[in-house]
Order: sequence, then structure tokens, then C-alpha cells
Amino acid sequence: MLQKPRRQTPAEVAILSRSASVAQRIEQTLHWALALGGGSDGPPLLTAAMHHAVFPGGARIRPQLCLAVAGACGDPHPALAEAAAGALELLHCASLVHDDLPCFDDAPTRRGVPSVHAAFGERIAVLTGDALIVLAFQALAEAVEPRTQRLMAPLAGLLGRRVGGPDGIVAGQAWECEPRVSLAAYHRAKTGSLFAACTEAGALAAAADPAPWRAFGLCLGEAYQVADDVRDVVATSQQLGKPAGRDRALSRPSSAAELGLCGAIEYFDRLVERSIEAIPDCDGAALLRALVRAESERLVPQDSVRDLALAA
Ligand code: IPE
Ligand code: IPE
Ligand code: MG
Ligand code: MG
Repeated sequence: MLQKPRRQTPAEVAILSRSASVAQRIEQTLHWALALGGGSDGPPLLTAAMHHAVFPGGARIRPQLCLAVAGACGDPHPALAEAAAGALELLHCASLVHDDLPCFDDAPTRRGVPSVHAAFGERIAVLTGDALIVLAFQALAEAVEPRTQRLMAPLAGLLGRRVGGPDGIVAGQAWECEPRVSLAAYHRAKTGSLFAACTEAGALAAAADPAPWRAFGLCLGEAYQVADDVRDVVATSQQLGKPAGRDRALSRPSSAAELGLCGAIEYFDRLVERSIEAIPDCDGAALLRALVRAESERLVPQDSVRDLALAA
């Protein structure tokens, strides 16, 4: 349903040729971080569950985005950019572990395998999420060198703001407990905020001003969540690697429910364009635009998903 074999554009070929080394940087950083926080001396179940939550990964879109922005800003401190990218992915993985718990979305699978609570039990899953959140900040701190020391406090503060309340992931998940919520505010908090953290942290780790990068991340994250809402309706659990149809079953605010499938896809397209327009002028802007276009095509393929929406 979501497959779309087609020829890659030159820009996508450029992305692919650099994506292998980017993927390697991300995986190495995550292995390094996990060794810091889940070494062989720790409780074996917790150590194994932390590993299960992080490996194998999903799209790793957030650390890619962070490294892409750091690259666009000259990447003078690659080790710090990698640590920030790793920290962002750890925070994301933690949010998924908690999101899958029976008291949230009660999802038995994630990334095509049993979710952490299904494999290790609920108590270990709660602790795994906690441990990964703490590890994100620890890993960032451990990566700081004397010449990047001054960037540590702004980076840690940024991650805290984008993950916690009043408008980070925690707030986004908490909006589900309220009787009324605006869909855009909910999406921006639960997903947009971490994407904004990725673009802002990429800039900060390169010692650049993060402010001009915020709108790009926020808009892209909102688009990403709208796509997730659409895929929740049109894809199968097997294709997603997580249960499909969850938003409707749990009465979650969803762009597919609020705008209809066609309306949600149009909204997604508008958000993607808006995010591309928000990319600040810089040397890496063309590559970033191509990255966004390739990712949007992966999420909502031009042909298959749109045809399905029209037929629905
Ligand atoms: C899932 O994020 C949660 C959302 C915010 C939509 P991803 O789709 O990026 O999950 P992984 O990391 O690829 O599994
Ligand atoms: C997850 O949102 C966003 C988080 C903050 C974890 P969803 O519940 O919509 O994401 P999936 O569909 O389970 O990945
Ligand atoms: Mg959820
Ligand atoms: Mg969920």
C-alpha cells in the first residue's frame, strides 16, 4: 500500500550518498551512549530493555535533521553535534517507550517487534523511559570538551524546554488527558517541539544562533505528525511495525479525523512547503530542502496514499 518504487531524483541521490556516513555517526554515538548508561554492571533486565528501545532504530529522522543543520552551519564541533543528535534520538526513544505503555496507547508492537513493556513488563518499561531521558543529558555532558564548554548550558536548557512542559513532548502527551485541545497545539507539543529541538540543537552545536532554525523544525515536526495520523488510517500494522488504527480506537485528536484524509494530506503538503520556506539562507539549504522532500515522499507517497485517500 505504501510502497512506491520509482526513480530517485539527483538531489535524493546526493542525500543517499552522504546518508551512509551520517547513519554510521548516529549508530556509533548511540552505542557509545548506551555503554555509558547501561553497562554490564547494571540490572540485566533494564540494560537489555534500554538496548531494545534504541536498537534497531526506526527512521532516525531526528538525529539526521540535527546533523544536517549542524552541517549547514559549518559543523565546527562534530563530536558535540553527534552527542546532541544522539541525545535527541534517546529522548525520542524514551517517549515511544512511555507512549506504548498500557496507560497511554497500549501498543504491543513498535518498529516491528514487541514494545518494551510487552517484552520486559511495565515496571521495567517505565524505568527504561526514565533511564533514557537521563542518559540523553548525561551523554551530552560527557561529550563536552573545553572548547565547547560554553555551549553545554544552552544545549541542555534547550533540550529540557523542548521535551518538558509547558509545550514539549510531556505537555503534548498531557493534552490527551484534557477534555479539549487544539489539534495544532497538540501536534506542535507532542512532535513539533522535538523537531524544533533538532534544528535548534544542530545550529547551537555548531555555535550558530538557533533562533532562525526554530520555525523550520516546528513546521516539519507538525507535518510529520499529520503524516503519522494519515498513515495510522491508510497503512496496515505490518507496514507500520506498530498497531494501525490506534488514533480512532483511542479517540485521539487526529488530523485524519478532523480534516478527513484528503484534507489531512493537503494540510501535510502545506506544512511541508511552509517548512521548506522556513529554512534559513545558508550553504546547505539545497540539501536540507532535498532531505525534506525525500522524507515527505517516504511518509506520504505521491501516488499510493493519495489515491487511497481519494477512494476513501
Ligand atoms: C513516531 O516517530 C512517533 C511520532 C512522533 C510520529 P517515528 O515515525 O520517527 O518513529 P521511528 O523512530 O521511525 O520508529
Ligand atoms: C507519539 O505520538 C508522539 C510521542 C510523543 C511519543 P503517537 O502515539 O501518535 O505515535 P505512534 O503512532 O504511537 O508512533
Ligand atoms: Mg500516543
Ligand atoms: Mg502511540
